[in-house]
Amino acid sequence: MGTGRPEFGPPEGAEELATAADIDAQAFAMSLADSTAWLEKAGPANLRVLRERGTVMATALPIPMGQWYGGRRVAMAGIGGVGVAPGARGRGLATRLMRHTLEELRSVGFPLSVLYPATQPLYRRVGYEQAGSRFEIRVQAHALDFEEQSLTVRPIQSSDQAALQEVYRRHASTRQGYLDRAPYIWDRVANPRKETAYGFLVEGSHGVEGYTYLVRRRMVDLKQEISLTDFVAITPAAGRKLLSFLGEHRSLALEVVWNGGPSDPLLFLLREQTYQVKLLFHWMMRVLDVPAALEARGYPAGVSGTLHLEVADDLFPDNRGSFILEVSGGTGHVQRGGNGLLRLDVRALAPLYTGFLSPEALRSVGALVADDASVRLAATLFCGPAPALPDMF
Ligand SMILES: CC(C)(COP(=O)(O)OP(=O)(O)OC[C@H]1O[C@@H](n2cnc3c(N)ncnc32)[C@H](O)[C@@H]1OP(=O)(O)O)[C@@H](O)C(=O)NCCC(=O)NCCS
Repeated sequence: MGTGRPEFGPPEGAEELATAADIDAQAFAMSLADSTAWLEKAGPANLRVLRERGTVMATALPIPMGQWYGGRRVAMAGIGGVGVAPGARGRGLATRLMRHTLEELRSVGFPLSVLYPATQPLYRRVGYEQAGSRFEIRVQAHALDFEEQSLTVRPIQSSDQAALQEVYRRHASTRQGYLDRAPYIWDRVANPRKETAYGFLVEGSHGVEGYTYLVRRRMVDLKQEISLTDFVAITPAAGRKLLSFLGEHRSLALEVVWNGGPSDPLLFLLREQTYQVKLLFHWMMRVLDVPAALEARGYPAGVSGTLHLEVADDLFPDNRGSFILEVSGGTGHVQRGGNGLLRLDVRALAPLYTGFLSPEALRSVGALVADDASVRLAATLFCGPAPALPDMF
């Protein structure tokens, strides 16, 4: 029997929230108590459900945050918690749920959405495409034999939060794709699920220069793995000091592990290449609002040019058609019109936008059609460090 509630929206009342928690417990192999606690922490008002004949059948958890591109913060909605009740899978519910979610996110002004896909066809169908990476960096603790004497290390206290967030912001704003973290993500850094993280910072005469949160995992024979939920150094001395501090765990710790991009500059400091860098995920992005996304990001200073694009989008008519992107002084302005010499689907715009794939690479796999001059210009406008995310959501 129907409840008269709309097909899509936040869960209403304790019963719907309990159904959502049950769907997510089964989707993500968690206990019901853990999935309930997770949804409470994320905030039930942020959760979205899809109902079928009045019963909650699917969930998604949009997380409002931002990402840094070209030194500017672009509003971005992360999506987690996509789950469909077992027995209701394979009949298009997740696709419908994602369409509703994207329509809502676009209508409230998010130009971008990002997620980690468990399956790509579902998300490609609604306009997402691979746009960046998350790597695991694994270093043997005995390789961290620095003896950096400058700066001091001390435990993080709650009164340090503002300084830490400022250090993180300075670090993230120089990377491509790093999060402007929501409180939900900061909480996962300091309080990872089922583990205890200890925070340490390094400071010099001008204040905090870096910090890390580490989890000590016990292995066989009392040996340990040190897993970092965050690792930020904004000065060379802070990087060396944090690495020496981690190396001081080497009597029992075998390895130190953190997440980041394909070429972490800290590895440059090591004597030998005994570390391993492993791809964990390619994350996917959906450009929800083409002109807003192109105008919100930063571009390389000192580069100017006018790029003519023609975009196809099955879902959002306002994204379709020809646009002129004019870049100068690090800023992009977009207007409608032009000759649309660089043609692509909104999906292919995501890896172009983040710099995950060059326009030449996209052309080589048929994801973009353009003349050589447009390809060369797009390559300079969208160049930057490899887009990466240390955070998972
Ligand atoms: C993945 C999941 C959300 C798909 O829900 P769904 O309602 O069955 O999805 P749809 O019917 O809309 O199918 C969309 C696409 O998802 C993929 N898909 C569907 N069921 C799938 C499954 N059981 N395993 C892997 N991929 C699946 C398919 O590619 C499908 O497209 P296709 O039919 O063209 O092949 C659902 O299987 C689920 O809850 N799984 C467990 C949790 C999970 O993996 N969540 C995703 C986290 S990113």
